[in-house]
Amino acid sequence: MKYLILFALLAGISATATGALCQEAPTGDQNPAQQPKPYQKMTAEERAASTRAFLGLGAVPDKAAAALGAPLFNANCAVCHGRQARGAMGPSLITSDEVLGDDHGEKLVLYLKDGRPGKGMPSFAAMPDEQLKEIAEFLHLQVEDIANRGAYHVLNILVGNAAKGQGYVEAHCMSCHTTQTFAHIGSRFRSSEQLQKGWIWPPRTGEDSLAITATVKMPTGSTITGHVTQVSDFRITVVDQAGQTYVIERGPGVEVQINDPLAAHQKWIMTLTSEDMHNVTAYLETLK
Ligand code: HEC
Ligand code: HEC
Repeated sequence: MKYLILFALLAGISATATGALCQEAPTGDQNPAQQPKPYQKMTAEERAASTRAFLGLGAVPDKAAAALGAPLFNANCAVCHGRQARGAMGPSLITSDEVLGDDHGEKLVLYLKDGRPGKGMPSFAAMPDEQLKEIAEFLHLQVEDIANRGAYHVLNILVGNAAKGQGYVEAHCMSCHTTQTFAHIGSRFRSSEQLQKGWIWPPRTGEDSLAITATVKMPTGSTITGHVTQVSDFRITVVDQAGQTYVIERGPGVEVQINDPLAAHQKWIMTLTSEDMHNVTAYLETLK
């Protein structure tokens, strides 16, 4: 069932599917109490559940675990699978059988521990199961965000304490940032969920200053510098300022120095508790 939906989504007919839900007319002379409630009259929670059931989306992702999984995914997986898991040099994980066939990590954790080293997917055997499960929940939430239109208005993540969040930001974020970073940050995103994703995991797209760059020293002594578009243990692809693409085998004598402007931020984000996270989001939301 799950597989069908995603093909449907890819074909762009998800709107029709949800539309069908809205129009589902009661048939025959059943007892009205047993008839499905019209979609328009449902509460937000009922809508999300109904869309979830209709699309066969499986288990409800654990949002708290997913939030902890986000920085782990970002640090360990995003370089190959893209920041929203939609694919880069590695495949999209939104449409992955390995992800869709899993509920709460019971299968995915085993897959991640083994990896497919022969095919460029590293083994994560050294990562604790708990963290692999959080990554699994993060992936399930990405699928949910894309597939479950009914859930779009359910999320209420403004559960933190803004005053505590302000205290946290002043004590812990200003060593690297100025008030300029946070000016009007609350109005830069269309929802508080987007805001939370945005500050935990700043989007790199289009922002030249946030791009991952590398300097590669070749055995001949020449160097190539540019944006990294792909990287693995074996190979790195760099696009230089002139737009020239270099695919470099990481053989003997090749020295690669990768510079990720967000590395320091991400390292820091790993130390946040989920309470800090909610408090900071509640505070940033007030900075309109
Ligand atoms: C160095 C690049 C790289 C990194 C880092 C990486 N992956 Fe992968 N991943 C790949 C490649 C390449 C494949 C495709 C393997 C194949 O063809 O079987 C893959 C496959 C997968 C698949 C299976 C996709 C499918 O349906 O076949 C999952 C799930 C996955 N990766 C999750 C992760 C997670 C989670 C992390 C971080 C903990 C991660 N990967 C880190 C490169 C990477
Ligand atoms: C160890 C240094 C460090 C700490 C601590 C840190 N960050 Fe960052 N952060 C960075 C760097 C470096 C960047 C990327 C360059 C930039 O945009 O300033 C960044 C980027 C950001 C961005 C994106 C800025 C943009 O221009 O889009 C936001 C938002 C952000 N951080 C919020 C926070 C918050 C909130 C905290 C505290 C909970 C925090 N950071 C803690 C180093 C840090």
